[in-house]
Amino acid sequence: MKHVDFLVIGSGIAGLSFALKASKYGSVCMVTKDAVQETSTRYAQGGIAAVMYDPDTHEKHIKDTMIAGHELSDPEIVRITITESTERVKDLIAWGVDFDKNTSGRYDLAREGGHSEFRVLHHKDITGLEIQKKLYLKAQEDKNIEVLENYFAVEILTQHHLGVTVTKHSTDICCFGAYVYNPHTQKVDTILAKTTILATGGIGNVYGNTTNPIVATGDGIAMVHRAKGVIRGMEFVQFHPTTLYNPSERPAFLITEALRGAGAVLKDWQGNEFMKKYDERGSLAPRDIVARAIDHELKISGEHHVFLDARHIDKSVFFNHFPNIYSKCLSIGIDATKDMIPVVPAAHYSCGGISVDKWGCTTIAHLYALGECASTGLHGANRLASNSLLESLVFSHRACVHASECLSHISFENNIKDWNAEGTVSNEEMILVTQNIRELQSIMSYYVGIVRSDQRLERAFNRLNIIYHEAETLYQHSVVTKRICELRNMVCTAYLITRHAMQRKESIGLHYSIDYPPKD
Ligand code: FAD
Ligand code: SIN
Repeated sequence: MKHVDFLVIGSGIAGLSFALKASKYGSVCMVTKDAVQETSTRYAQGGIAAVMYDPDTHEKHIKDTMIAGHELSDPEIVRITITESTERVKDLIAWGVDFDKNTSGRYDLAREGGHSEFRVLHHKDITGLEIQKKLYLKAQEDKNIEVLENYFAVEILTQHHLGVTVTKHSTDICCFGAYVYNPHTQKVDTILAKTTILATGGIGNVYGNTTNPIVATGDGIAMVHRAKGVIRGMEFVQFHPTTLYNPSERPAFLITEALRGAGAVLKDWQGNEFMKKYDERGSLAPRDIVARAIDHELKISGEHHVFLDARHIDKSVFFNHFPNIYSKCLSIGIDATKDMIPVVPAAHYSCGGISVDKWGCTTIAHLYALGECASTGLHGANRLASNSLLESLVFSHRACVHASECLSHISFENNIKDWNAEGTVSNEEMILVTQNIRELQSIMSYYVGIVRSDQRLERAFNRLNIIYHEAETLYQHSVVTKRICELRNMVCTAYLITRHAMQRKESIGLHYSIDYPPKD
C-alpha cells in the first residue's frame, strides 16, 4: 500500500501544472494510463487565450466567453478565469514554454472563432506539444514528483470501500485515494492519498470520429459518477468544425481554427462560401454554429465533407504559423497553398464534467477535478476556442492553493481493504469488448451527435442500456484490464451525455434538438 500527499491522475496540462505547484507542499504521485505524453494537451494546436496587450481587455474576453457560452457560463467563474489569465500564462513562460513572437518582440497573437480580438498565444501550430514537453521536463527535474506511466486508475476510494453505504444523497462522501492497475504485476494496487486530483481529460472516444487521443474515454467522470459525486452539463459536447477528412485516421487530424482566423474560409462543393447564410460572422462564428452549418450542408449535398480554402493566405504566413498542417496535408497529397482542404466536424471537447467550485473542489471531500474532466462553469453551453488550456492552468493553481492549506488537517485512511479479485477469470474474447465499443460509438454518432431529437435520444438510451448490462457482466467476471475498464467508463459517459441531453428540453449552444423549440 502506497501513501502520498497528492495523488494526481493524469499527465496533461492540468495534472502536470498542479503537480509542479503541489510538490512544494508534499509528495506527489502522478499516474497516467499511457505514455506521459499521450494526452489531448499534446495535440492542442491553436494555443491559449489570454489578455496580453491593448486594445484587448478583460471585459472583452469575458464578453466573448459569455456570448460563446450562450450566457449559461457562470459569470463569477468567467471573471476569475480571465482576470487570472495573464498570471497563469507567465507561469507557463517561467516553466520554459516558448510562445511565438513577432518582429517587434511582442507575442504573436492569433484569432479564433468567437474572439473579438487577437489574443491566442501559440507556438506555431503545435502549441500543446510545446506545453506538454516543457512541463514534463520540469516534472522530471522535481524530486518530489513520482510518475507512474501506464498505470490505470480503476476507482477512487471512498467510505464505500470501508463497507459503508454511500448514495447520491450522502453529503459526507470523502476520497482516500484510488485503486490503480499496476502493469508490472498485472494486479490492482491501493494508493492512499490525503488529496486526490482527477485530471483525466476528455471523452471524445465515445464518438466514431474524434480529434481526441485514445486516452480520452471519460474515466474520471465515470469514476466520480460511480462514487456518487455530481456530474453536470454532459449534453454540451463540442464538435470541432474542421478536421481533415481522412476516413481511416483516428484520432482525426485537426485543422486549427487559427487558420480561419488567418483568413481561410469554408466552401461547398461548388466552391461557394456558405457560412454567411448561417451567421454574419461567417467562417469565424463560434464552433457550435459552424459545426451545425457544416452538418446541414452535408445533409443537403449528400457529400462526406466540405472544403476549407486557405489558398489565398500569404505563403510565408502559412509556412511560418502552420507548418504542421501544411506537411500533414501534403502527406496525403493535398498542397494547402494550391488545393482546398477537405474538412469534416469531429467530437472534440466536453464542456460538462465533474462539478467543481471555484477552487476545483468536487462534491466529494479531498477530491479535486481539473482540466477537461471538470465542469467549472466557464464554458456554459459552448466553449470559446482556446479557453480550455487556460481553464486548466487557472484551476490547477487555485486547487493547489486550497489543497495545500488543507493538507495538514488530513490523515490517511488505513482501513481500506485491498482489491478483491476473487471469482474473476481472464477474458479471452476481446471481440466482446471491441464490438461493444464500436456499437457505442455508432449509437453516439448517429443519435447523440451535432443534431438530436427526442426520438433519437430515446433510441440511444435504450441501446446503451443493453451495452451497459453486457459491459457490467464482463467487468464483474473478468480479471481487470485497461480495455474492459475503459469500455465500462465509456458506457457510463455515453449514458451521462444521453441522459443530460434528454433532460434539457430546449435547443441551446451545443445541444441542438429538432424538437425544440416545439413547432406550433
Ligand atoms: P489531457 O491532456 O487529455 O490528459 C489526460 C490525462 O489523463 C492523460 O495523461 C491520460 O493518460 C490520463 N488518464 C485518463 N484516464 C486515466 C486513468 N483511468 N488512469 C490513469 N490516467 C488516466 N484547447 C485549447 O485551449 N487550445 C487549443 O488550441 C486546443 N487544441 C486542441 C486540439 C486537439 C486536437 C484536441 C484534442 C484538444 C484541443 N484543445 C485545445 C483542448 C485541450 O487540449 C484539452 O482540453 C486539454 O489539453 C485537456 O487537458 P487535461 O490535462 O485536462 O487532459
Ligand atoms: C483549434 O486550434 O482550433 C482548437 C482550439 C481549441 O479547441 O480550443
